[in-house]
Order: sequence, then structure tokens, then C-alpha cells
Amino acid sequence: MTMRIVFLAVFCLLVPTGARAQALDYEFFKKSVQPIFLEKRPGHARCVACHSGPGNNAFRLEKLAPGARSWNEEQSRRNFETASRLVVPGDPQAGLLLTHPLAPEAGGSAYHSGGRQFASRNDPEWKILSRWASGEAQPSGSKNR
Ligand code: HEC
Repeated sequence: MTMRIVFLAVFCLLVPTGARAQALDYEFFKKSVQPIFLEKRPGHARCVACHSGPGNNAFRLEKLAPGARSWNEEQSRRNFETASRLVVPGDPQAGLLLTHPLAPEAGGSAYHSGGRQFASRNDPEWKILSRWASGEAQPSGSKNR
């Protein structure tokens, strides 16, 4: 009888873990996706330059502290929540985060005030966004990629 209860308890703990297989990975976001928002691409302003101020945009990143070159842990968590709402977990193509900064010829939105930051789906940074949306996780042991 006791064994059966233990078995059930363990079972209940394991099931939700399996069901979350499509979840978005925070570590992958922090190490590989977030730096894309800080990077300067030729001919374009950085994402963070337009997307961290006041305004009603859905893609609103945290404001960097004066002099800071990246976000702290708490801010990164909030950026993760914000970006997560702009992708379709498990789908490497859909969601405004993937389509809005992508050139229309490549399947992106017709217009983005921030420009065609990614000319094609072969852009290495666009591919990172896409891999994150599809649910790729940061491999443990390679945290400093
Ligand atoms: C020059 C300013 C500017 C830059 C740089 C910029 N954006 Fe934007 N972006 C905007 C504005 C303004 C909007 C809202 C109006 C529109 O759709 O164009 C927007 C809209 C978006 C949206 C749709 C959700 C929303 O908040 O409206 C996404 C997603 C987005 N941008 C992603 C990015 C990414 C990713 C980058 C960097 C690779 C980037 N943007 C760079 C100005 C910018």
C-alpha cells in the first residue's frame, strides 16, 4: 500500500516534466538570443535602441542601467517573458519576433519601423531566434558559448 502511494507520487512528479518538452529555454535565451538585441548591425540601429523606451510596443526590453553592457538576471527574466510572448513555442517560423525584423521577400512583415534587420532566413542571428522558438535548450556544460 505504502509503495503504491510512493509510486503514484513519483509518477505525478515526472509527468509534468515530460509535458513541458516544448517550453522555451531561458538559458539559451540569455546566452544566445539576448545578445542579438544588443548588437549593432550595419545600416541599422540596435534593437535595444528603439525597444527599451517607454511606448506601447509589445516588444519592450528592459532599460539598461547607465553604463551597463547587458541586463542583470532579473531584467533578463523579464526580457525572456516579453520575447516569449512574441514567438509560437515549438514553431521555428511563426511569431512577430521572427517575422517583424525579417525582410518581406524572405517571408517577413511588410513593414517594420526598425528596418529589415535580417535579409533572409539564412541570417545566422535569425537562425538563433528560430532555434530558440523551436524549443532548443542550452546544452549543460557549455554555458559560456
Ligand atoms: C529604429 C527603431 C527600431 C529598431 C532598431 C528595431 N525596431 Fe522593432 N519596432 C520598432 C517600432 C517603432 C515598432 C512598432 C511599429 C512597427 O511595427 O514598425 C517595432 C515593432 C517590432 C515588433 C512587433 C511587436 C511590437 O512591439 O510592435 C517586433 C517583434 C520587433 N519590432 C522586433 C525587433 C527586433 C528583433 C529588432 C532588432 C533585430 C528591432 N525590432 C529593431 C522600431 C525598431
